[in-house]
Amino acid sequence: MGADPVDDPTGLVRDAALLLDGGRVAWVGPESACADGVERAIGRAPDRVVGVAGRAVVPGFVDSHTHLVFAGDRSGEFEARMAGRPYAAGGIRTTVAATRAASDDDLRANLRRHVHEALAQGTTTIEVKSGYGLSVADEERSVRLAAEVTDEVTFLGAHVVPADSGSADAYVDLVVGDMLAACAPHARWVDVFCETGAFTAEQSRRVLEAGSRAGLGVRVHANQLGPGEGVRLAVDLGAAAVDHCTFLSDDDVAALAASWTAGSGSGEGQGTVATLLPGVEFSTRQPYPDARRLLDAGAVVALASDCNPGSSYTSSMPLMVALAVRETGTTVAEAIWAATAGGARALRRDDVGHLALGARADLVVLDAPSRTHLAYRPGVPLVHQVWKDGRPVA
Ligand code: NIG
Ligand code: FE
Repeated sequence: MGADPVDDPTGLVRDAALLLDGGRVAWVGPESACADGVERAIGRAPDRVVGVAGRAVVPGFVDSHTHLVFAGDRSGEFEARMAGRPYAAGGIRTTVAATRAASDDDLRANLRRHVHEALAQGTTTIEVKSGYGLSVADEERSVRLAAEVTDEVTFLGAHVVPADSGSADAYVDLVVGDMLAACAPHARWVDVFCETGAFTAEQSRRVLEAGSRAGLGVRVHANQLGPGEGVRLAVDLGAAAVDHCTFLSDDDVAALAASWTAGSGSGEGQGTVATLLPGVEFSTRQPYPDARRLLDAGAVVALASDCNPGSSYTSSMPLMVALAVRETGTTVAEAIWAATAGGARALRRDDVGHLALGARADLVVLDAPSRTHLAYRPGVPLVHQVWKDGRPVA
């Protein structure tokens, strides 16, 4: 592992060695202490030694927010936006029509292609949402297919009100009724798009409380297009994460920070992560969220790609790191932490997102002498090798 010029409170080890055993990290420390450490950890010499020749190693990225069950293409919408038309989430309905029309095999192939694309860029843990089906059968199919590729499946039946529905309230009745019943067995999480033009705070609360009663953890899309009540609702309900967080009031920031202090509703270590999705602002020409403000207030920040065919059609976590550093005010160490350990917190996982003893042996070997290059060399394919569960996979 290469030297890094920046002092780092998050656990950087220079000239390091790692012992991987049974898919977990069995020892980690400076290479000079390796022989003794490894002998103590497993009582024998390792079976195999792999040198990475001065390359930096980071934990596998944890992408806690994607929408990869979809069909179709919205490059026309992107082109129009770049010609001056503003982003409106109404484009979601274009993808809903294409997704409903696709066969299971086509949807599955598209999903797997994108998950592999993410893995090749270092994403070893990925969350996948439904939300382009918006009928009982199409949402059930979406979460079922997502569960074939990840344990982190999110039911987002309340993405927008579909064009063929009656009122928003009637659609929410369907979401919390038959749709949730069909989807909950395949999902770990429930999510809602709490935003003007999608669902109100009251409608969002109904969806999230029903999901919670069905045994799902809570996450929320909020404060993407303007200020709103979604962040406070998320904190109030003890959500694992609230995602976007572009337009925040001082009260929102204070509530996110306070969610991590002992005695808050969620309990210590179980607050609500502010997940920033700077690929959206990059692709929609919106103002970027302010990670610095959140971090300085004591909030916990994650980075995710939001990979979807509308607002952010990129699966690249290295790009998110580069954007966070350049556009949202994080240091390099903070951005890499947010894209790994932060994502793990947003999924309430402690086995991924870091490389301490006992962690899953999911890691990325960079074709670079330090992790700083992830931000320093934006757009350059720096992923040399990806390891998952102790094996090279890409
Ligand atoms: O996270 N905000 C709502 N949903 C997606 C956008 C999906 C789309 O445009 O298709 C998002 O940005
Ligand atoms: Fe999203």
